[in-house]
Amino acid sequence: MLDFLGNLQRTHYCGALRSSDDSREVILMGWVARRRDLGNLLFLDLRDRSGIVQVVFNKETQPQAHAKAEQLRSEFVVAVEGKVIKRQKSNPELATGEIEVIAQKLHLLNTAKTPPFQIEDDTNAAEETRLRYRYLDLRRPKSHANLALRHKIIFEIRKVMDEMGFLEIETPMLTRSTPEGARDYLVPSRVHHGKFYALPQSPQIFKQILMIGGLDRYFQIVKCFRDEDLRADRQPEFTQLDVEMSFPRQEDIFHVIESVMVRACAVAGIKAEAPFPHMLYKDAVRKYGSDKPDMRFGMELHEVTDCFPQEAKDKLQIAGSVFALAAPGAASYSRKQLDELTEKAKSAGARGAYFVKLSPEGPTSTVEKLIGAENVKKLAEACGAKTGDLVVAVSAKQEIKGTEAAALVAGQLRLQLGEALNLIDKSQWKFLWLTGFPLFEWSESDKSWVSAQHPFTGIVDEDLEKLESAPWEVRSKGYDLVLNGVELGSGSIRIHRQDVQERLFKALGLSEELLRRRFGFFLDALTYGTPPHGGIALGMDRVVMLLAGEKSIREVVAFAKTTAAVDLMAESPSEVDNDQLDQLGIAIKDE
Ligand code: AMO
Repeated sequence: MLDFLGNLQRTHYCGALRSSDDSREVILMGWVARRRDLGNLLFLDLRDRSGIVQVVFNKETQPQAHAKAEQLRSEFVVAVEGKVIKRQKSNPELATGEIEVIAQKLHLLNTAKTPPFQIEDDTNAAEETRLRYRYLDLRRPKSHANLALRHKIIFEIRKVMDEMGFLEIETPMLTRSTPEGARDYLVPSRVHHGKFYALPQSPQIFKQILMIGGLDRYFQIVKCFRDEDLRADRQPEFTQLDVEMSFPRQEDIFHVIESVMVRACAVAGIKAEAPFPHMLYKDAVRKYGSDKPDMRFGMELHEVTDCFPQEAKDKLQIAGSVFALAAPGAASYSRKQLDELTEKAKSAGARGAYFVKLSPEGPTSTVEKLIGAENVKKLAEACGAKTGDLVVAVSAKQEIKGTEAAALVAGQLRLQLGEALNLIDKSQWKFLWLTGFPLFEWSESDKSWVSAQHPFTGIVDEDLEKLESAPWEVRSKGYDLVLNGVELGSGSIRIHRQDVQERLFKALGLSEELLRRRFGFFLDALTYGTPPHGGIALGMDRVVMLLAGEKSIREVVAFAKTTAAVDLMAESPSEVDNDQLDQLGIAIKDE
């Protein structure tokens, strides 16, 4: 028989009780986390959002409550009336471990089916099961802590942005396509037969129009939608801190974001120091083999193409450059470990991996016969390798126009070796601004130059004249914010002149007709006195993921989707009734 809640009023959260509450009469409400029956004494771990407290039912002094407690199972919902006492033996694992609650009365408010997994932080349930039963997964203290941290960070960011004079302004969800390099989620219009809205990939065009509208400083904590291949740090819908300001210098935008991040870190108990260092994109690629270098460890890359004579290059089928790094202490790697490293290099896009071991007896190399002893020595020296180190050099299978393919491969090895050799100091918080990006990148699939960021990114003034003649040399006014090897955000000073914006669209190969159809309204808006402006967007899920110490953004998103973009709990996407399709004038084709 279930009890009614009636007028019963909770007096405390479970996790809030401390030894200073000794002798206090309390009414607690929550879920049965665990029950241990020792005959005369029955112990209950009672859980709510704040944590867990131990409740004791004594058969001799409270036989009725005790008898009722014997029916309890995991996840039953109860209210307990009782009295706090100090424990004889405290439990240091629990925040409430100094006390327990002697139950006087038990109210059974609801029963529960046996959950498909144990609700505790160290759950070994498969992620699929956790996502399918998200309401149970959310009951884990860790989930509560992550969502509470997310709330606190976002709350703090709103405060900082307000203090700096930014206005939070909503932009539409039902809109038209905003190009951010992904596919759109489309929403068919019932009223306008055959027409579609697109969900925003970002509020990019609208925030620029807010600047044209004279709003001067805009921000928004906003959902964005992108139909793209998902990974651990991507979701089809995600949240941005989106920012735009008028008449800014790049440093003004950096200052705003540094203030935001320092305060957000403080909320998570992390001390971050501003200003953050800067690095040029080309240096990031050449030194770290990445456009988002993890600066918590060194192991820089070095170009060593010179150490490979033409004959060796021909034999090894090296077409482009060779990049190398010195892995400290890895000279003791076995044949098997080197083979594994070669495999990793190949799956990262290497043509081959070449090793030099700096043993105390002198250097030995897998390519000594091909490049000669002198070049082996030169190779080790170029990397600053010391006795005991392993030099790993790689060439790329495929050259990528406009970038150092071998450096990118070496960069992936750097990360893997950094992890394997324990070189990454996990207590560090290394922010980095990346600047000096090329405006275009080569798309192998389109066989054309495409925008490296979005097509509203500003162009370095002195490069403007090369827009049509040498697009690969044009630098953008874009920047990225990186933290511990994760891209947190990206932004730019924008194009604010209509003539330049139109030239850029044309350089991207947009026909006059397509240009008018897709961006006509925006090009028109640019002609009515557009101020110079710029901004940035930070991925909030990634910010919270890092500050919470999680490896996947799904841990900090209440209702996350799988990497196949499926919501396993709500079972979406789903089929819809024919009626609904008819109203929209849509028919589904067979695949
Ligand atoms: P961009 O496309 O780089 O820039 O996005 C900015 C930041 O948003 C986060 N992000 C994502 N997070 C989770 N899942 C995703 N699928 C996902 N895609 C992006 C990343 C990324 O750095 N309009 C521009 C910003 C600007 O120029 O002001 C934009 O959206 O952390």
